[in-house]
Amino acid sequence: MNFKLLDFQIFGDERGSLISLEGNKNIPFEIKRVYYIYDTKNDVVRGKHAHKNFQQILIAVSGSCKILVDNKKDKKIYELDNPSKGLLIKNNVWREMFDFSSDCVLMVLASDNYDKDDYIYEYGEL
Ligand code: TYD
Repeated sequence: MNFKLLDFQIFGDERGSLISLEGNKNIPFEIKRVYYIYDTKNDVVRGKHAHKNFQQILIAVSGSCKILVDNKKDKKIYELDNPSKGLLIKNNVWREMFDFSSDCVLMVLASDNYDKDDYIYEYGEL
Protein backbone atom coordinates (compact mmCIF):
# COMPACT_ATOMS: atom_id res chain seq x y z
CA MET A 1 0.00 0.00 0.00
CA ASN A 2 1.44 3.40 -0.87
CA PHE A 3 -0.35 5.29 1.91
CA LYS A 4 -0.74 4.45 5.57
CA LEU A 5 -1.68 6.07 8.88
CA LEU A 6 1.09 5.84 11.51
CA ASP A 7 0.67 6.14 15.28
CA PHE A 8 3.64 7.74 17.03
CA GLN A 9 4.59 6.86 20.57
CA ILE A 10 3.72 9.61 23.04
CA PHE A 11 6.12 10.18 25.92
CA GLY A 12 3.70 11.64 28.43
CA ASP A 13 4.04 12.49 32.09
CA GLU A 14 2.54 14.98 34.51
CA ARG A 15 4.25 17.81 32.62
CA GLY A 16 2.59 17.02 29.30
CA SER A 17 3.44 15.13 26.11
CA LEU A 18 6.41 14.71 23.79
CA ILE A 19 6.74 12.94 20.43
CA SER A 20 10.10 12.26 18.82
CA LEU A 21 10.46 11.76 15.06
CA GLU A 22 13.67 10.16 13.79
CA GLY A 23 14.67 9.43 10.22
CA ASN A 24 14.98 5.73 9.40
CA LYS A 25 13.42 4.89 12.78
CA ASN A 26 9.77 5.80 13.32
CA ILE A 27 9.96 7.84 10.09
CA PRO A 28 10.68 5.21 7.41
CA PHE A 29 13.03 7.40 5.35
CA GLU A 30 15.78 9.94 5.83
CA ILE A 31 14.20 13.36 6.42
CA LYS A 32 15.61 15.83 3.87
CA ARG A 33 13.03 18.61 4.17
CA VAL A 34 10.39 19.89 6.56
CA TYR A 35 7.71 22.42 5.71
CA TYR A 36 4.48 23.45 7.34
CA ILE A 37 1.21 24.89 6.18
CA TYR A 38 -0.74 27.22 8.48
CA ASP A 39 -3.24 30.11 8.42
CA THR A 40 -5.09 28.16 5.73
CA LYS A 41 -8.51 29.52 4.84
CA ASN A 42 -11.28 27.06 5.70
CA ASP A 43 -12.71 26.73 2.16
CA VAL A 44 -9.31 26.08 0.57
CA VAL A 45 -8.22 22.80 -1.04
CA ARG A 46 -4.43 22.41 -1.20
CA GLY A 47 -2.28 19.75 -2.77
CA LYS A 48 -4.09 18.35 -5.84
CA HIS A 49 -1.01 16.56 -7.04
CA ALA A 50 0.99 13.36 -6.70
CA HIS A 51 4.74 12.75 -6.59
CA LYS A 52 6.89 10.50 -8.72
CA ASN A 53 9.65 9.78 -6.22
CA PHE A 54 8.91 11.47 -2.92
CA GLN A 55 7.78 10.05 0.37
CA GLN A 56 6.09 12.37 2.80
CA ILE A 57 4.55 12.20 6.25
CA LEU A 58 1.83 14.71 7.11
CA ILE A 59 1.19 15.56 10.76
CA ALA A 60 -1.33 18.07 12.13
CA VAL A 61 0.83 19.30 15.01
CA SER A 62 -1.98 21.69 15.94
CA GLY A 63 -5.67 21.76 15.00
CA SER A 64 -7.09 19.47 12.35
CA CYS A 65 -7.55 18.95 8.64
CA LYS A 66 -8.64 16.24 6.25
CA ILE A 67 -6.52 14.51 3.63
CA LEU A 68 -7.94 12.70 0.64
CA VAL A 69 -5.57 10.10 -0.79
CA ASP A 70 -6.23 8.20 -4.01
CA ASN A 71 -3.93 5.74 -5.75
CA LYS A 72 -6.58 4.84 -8.34
CA LYS A 73 -7.18 1.50 -6.61
CA ASP A 74 -8.02 2.77 -3.13
CA LYS A 75 -9.38 6.14 -2.16
CA LYS A 76 -9.67 7.29 1.44
CA ILE A 77 -10.21 10.43 3.52
CA TYR A 78 -8.21 10.67 6.76
CA GLU A 79 -8.87 13.23 9.47
CA LEU A 80 -5.63 14.37 11.08
CA ASP A 81 -6.65 15.80 14.45
CA ASN A 82 -3.87 14.70 16.80
CA PRO A 83 -0.09 15.28 16.74
CA SER A 84 0.44 11.56 17.41
CA LYS A 85 -0.92 10.60 13.98
CA GLY A 86 1.11 10.78 10.78
CA LEU A 87 -0.09 10.00 7.29
CA LEU A 88 2.63 8.36 5.20
CA ILE A 89 2.18 9.00 1.47
CA LYS A 90 4.50 7.35 -1.04
CA ASN A 91 4.77 7.67 -4.83
CA ASN A 92 1.89 8.05 -7.25
CA VAL A 93 -0.76 8.96 -4.69
CA TRP A 94 -3.07 11.87 -5.48
CA ARG A 95 -3.59 14.01 -2.35
CA GLU A 96 -5.91 16.86 -1.46
CA MET A 97 -5.85 18.68 1.89
CA PHE A 98 -9.02 20.46 3.03
CA ASP A 99 -11.26 21.36 5.99
CA PHE A 100 -8.40 23.08 7.81
CA SER A 101 -9.28 24.39 11.27
CA SER A 102 -8.14 27.98 11.81
CA ASP A 103 -5.46 26.75 14.25
CA CYS A 104 -4.20 23.95 11.99
CA VAL A 105 -0.45 23.65 11.52
CA LEU A 106 0.13 20.83 9.05
CA MET A 107 3.77 19.76 9.18
CA VAL A 108 5.21 17.74 6.32
CA LEU A 109 8.38 15.65 6.49
CA ALA A 110 9.75 14.87 3.04
CA SER A 111 12.30 12.37 1.81
CA ASP A 112 13.84 14.79 -0.67
CA ASN A 113 14.53 18.41 -1.44
CA TYR A 114 11.93 20.49 -3.27
CA ASP A 115 11.84 19.60 -6.95
CA LYS A 116 9.13 20.94 -9.25
CA ASP A 117 9.85 18.15 -11.73
CA ASP A 118 8.77 15.52 -9.23
CA TYR A 119 5.16 16.75 -9.27
CA ILE A 120 2.30 15.10 -11.19
CA TYR A 121 -0.44 17.73 -11.60
CA GLU A 122 -2.78 15.72 -13.83
CA TYR A 123 -4.83 12.99 -12.13
CA GLY A 124 -4.89 11.20 -15.50
CA GLU A 125 -1.09 10.90 -15.44
CA LEU A 126 -1.03 8.84 -12.24
P1 TYD B 1 2.30 24.32 -3.33
O1 TYD B 1 2.98 23.23 -4.09
O2 TYD B 1 1.21 25.06 -4.02
O3 TYD B 1 1.73 23.74 -1.96
P2 TYD B 1 0.62 22.58 -1.74
O4 TYD B 1 0.76 21.59 -2.84
O5 TYD B 1 0.99 22.01 -0.41
O6 TYD B 1 -0.72 23.21 -1.70
O7 TYD B 1 3.43 25.32 -2.84
C1 TYD B 1 3.22 26.70 -2.60
C2 TYD B 1 4.49 27.48 -2.95
O8 TYD B 1 5.57 27.10 -2.10
C3 TYD B 1 4.94 27.26 -4.37
O9 TYD B 1 5.34 28.52 -4.88
C4 TYD B 1 6.15 26.37 -4.25
C5 TYD B 1 6.70 26.70 -2.88
N1 TYD B 1 7.37 25.57 -2.20
C6 TYD B 1 8.73 25.59 -2.00
O10 TYD B 1 9.43 26.54 -2.43
N2 TYD B 1 9.33 24.58 -1.32
C7 TYD B 1 8.61 23.52 -0.86
O11 TYD B 1 9.19 22.60 -0.22
C8 TYD B 1 7.19 23.48 -1.08
C9 TYD B 1 6.36 22.33 -0.62
C10 TYD B 1 6.61 24.54 -1.76
